[in-house]
Formats: sequence, structure tokens, C-alpha cells
Amino acid sequence: MDRKIIVTGGCGYVGSHIVVQLIENQFEVLILDNLSNSSEASLDRIKQITGKRPLFIKVDLSDRAAMAKIFEQHNDALAVIHLAALKAVGESIEIPLKYYYNNLNCLLNTLNSQIENGINKFVFSSSATVYGSPDELPITEKSNTKRPFSPYGNSKRIGEEIIEDLCKIKCDFSSISLRYFNPIGAHESGIIGELPKGVPNNLMPYITQTAAGIRDKLMVFGGDYPTHDGTAIRDYVHVMDLAQAHIDALNRLLNEEQDTPYETFNLGSTKGYSVLEMIQTFEAVSKVKLNYEITERRAGDITELYASTKLAEEKLGWKAERNIDEMIRSSWEWEQNLRSEKE
Ligand code: WQD
Repeated sequence: MDRKIIVTGGCGYVGSHIVVQLIENQFEVLILDNLSNSSEASLDRIKQITGKRPLFIKVDLSDRAAMAKIFEQHNDALAVIHLAALKAVGESIEIPLKYYYNNLNCLLNTLNSQIENGINKFVFSSSATVYGSPDELPITEKSNTKRPFSPYGNSKRIGEEIIEDLCKIKCDFSSISLRYFNPIGAHESGIIGELPKGVPNNLMPYITQTAAGIRDKLMVFGGDYPTHDGTAIRDYVHVMDLAQAHIDALNRLLNEEQDTPYETFNLGSTKGYSVLEMIQTFEAVSKVKLNYEITERRAGDITELYASTKLAEEKLGWKAERNIDEMIRSSWEWEQNLRSEKE
């Protein structure tokens, strides 16, 4: 029997790693994606790893009529994993309406179309940004959520609230929101990984592109934070571990093991690394010297973030397995493979 799962944003960085693991767990996958920050090449790459090319429909998820039609045709799906969203934090501050319009309409259309067609399980790609500047470390799911600094972050927080409201009134609808800390790394084959369009916003692709000679210099945003070396601390989590958590969340929903119809889980490694530690680890793992300079802080950045994932461990049986060296090594291998493909 086919066990079909719809993955929105499945051609993207996190999405493609989830799709690989779904296929390896004998699910049939339908990807919905507008390819705004990804490409159809992901489908061939997924096939290269798994031997199976997932079903794919190119669609703008904010197109309500198109979404209604797709879900009608695929009403045999068991659940939806929703990742499709714009995610450039800086751009979202410049063009907030674009982010609210896109991220909220994509979410609303997905929820509406799936419910109309009796698909009542939903995994939401959320973010640690919903905690804003945290009151306590490590951050637990009970920590206060706060209005995030960026419209991108706020679209995730509002998204969670919409889903929670839906779970309250519609007793057969259930959902899990997964709050990602900082996903990095790539599939161990080096065949899929993060490929941001244009100049990267995030640290890891900026590091690997600088080492590969595509960027001149890495700017370290802020050297005067109240941390042991003055640079900001984050909880980096391997994208393969993150993908595994989606399989675990999906199974919890499908097996109806939830304590309440709406649940949230932190996904992080539980360890904090500073920007300078990331640079040093990269240099040690890759044997490449990085050109970097410490500059001004980036607006909206928080001093320190790291997760407690005890809840995910207890309820999902999930824990991040891969260490920082593996995360950085796989990111670098992916970057090098990309470059050798292009030559
Ligand atoms: C990490 C650290 C920077 C780039 C963002 C989103 C979050 C999540 C992941 C995304 C910070 C520093 C970075 C650079 C640097 N979701 N840095 N030079 O800001 O923690 O989280 O991405 O989809 O919601 O907010 O991640 O990788 O941008 O930054 O010094 O060129 O690296 O200041 O301390 P962030 P990041």
C-alpha cells in the first residue's frame, strides 16, 4: 500500500533531506514547490541517493485554486510536512508584506486544502526564532515565546498560533511544530546540501563559499558580545538529524501517540558554539585557512541560543547524533562537490 506524504518546499535544503529519509522509510512522496529558492535538480539528486524520483508539482502555494485542485487529486495522502516559506531574515525586514503574504498564504492554503480533503495530520517547520531573545538557557518548549525581531520569524510564530487554534476546534486535526535551531551539514553522500541563491545570509554557507574562493572574506558580525570570545553563540544541528526528527514526528502523528492534538518540539544539538569556534573548527576539519574580519554586530542578532531537547527525546525518541565536526565536514564536502561539478 502506498503511504503518500505531501512535502511542501521539498526541493529545498531541509526538504530534500527529509524527502530522502521518507523514501528510505517506504513512504511515497509528493513535493509541492515553486522553486523560488531551489531547483528541479534536487529531484534527480534525490533519485541518485534513493533510486526513486519523488512526484513533483511546481506550484505557487499562495494560489488557492491551484492548491485546492492538487489536494483533491491527492486526497489519499496521509499527512503534510509543510516547509515552503521565504526565509531570508534581512529581506523580510525590508519587505515585510512579501513575507507575511507568502508565508501565511502558503500555510493557510495548505491547511485549508488538506482539511477539505480529509488529510488531518500536519508537521510544521518552525524556528527557534519564536523564542525571541530567550529568558533562560537552555531553551525549553516551556520557555516564553516572544515577538520575533523579523517578519520572517514572526510569520513562523503566527503560523504556530494558527495551527494551534485549528487543533483546538477541530478534534480530528493534529499537528506537530518543530522548532529548528541552526541547521547545517549535508547528506553523507555529498549529493544534496544547502545551495542558497545569491549571497548567503547564514554563517555555514558563507564559510564554505569563502573557503572555496567564491566570497572574498567572511564578516564576523560582532566581537563584543558578552561571551567567552566576544562572538555570538548558536546551537548548530545536522540537517540529517533534523530530517530524522520529521520522520519521528510523522510517525507519532500517524500512530496517534500524541498527548495533545498540538505539540511543539525543539530540534537542536543542545550545544552552543561561537562564531570564532565555528571558524576554528572549520579550519581544523578542512585544513583551509579562512579569510575573516570582525565587524559590527548584525541588527537583531541575539547573544546566545541553545536548546534543551529533553522533550523530543522523551516523546519522539529523538536526539541529535552527529557532532560539530561531522556537520562542518559534510558541509565542506558538499561545497567541494558542487565546485567540481561546475568545472
Ligand atoms: C549564525 C551566527 C551571526 C553570517 C537564522 C534565522 C533562524 C534560522 C536559522 C532560518 C550569528 C553570525 C552569520 C555571517 C556571521 N532559520 N554570522 N557572519 O541568525 O542564528 O538564524 O538562520 O531559516 O530563524 O534567524 O543564523 O547562520 O545567519 O548566523 O558572523 O556572514 O553567525 O551573526 O551570530 P541565525 P546565521
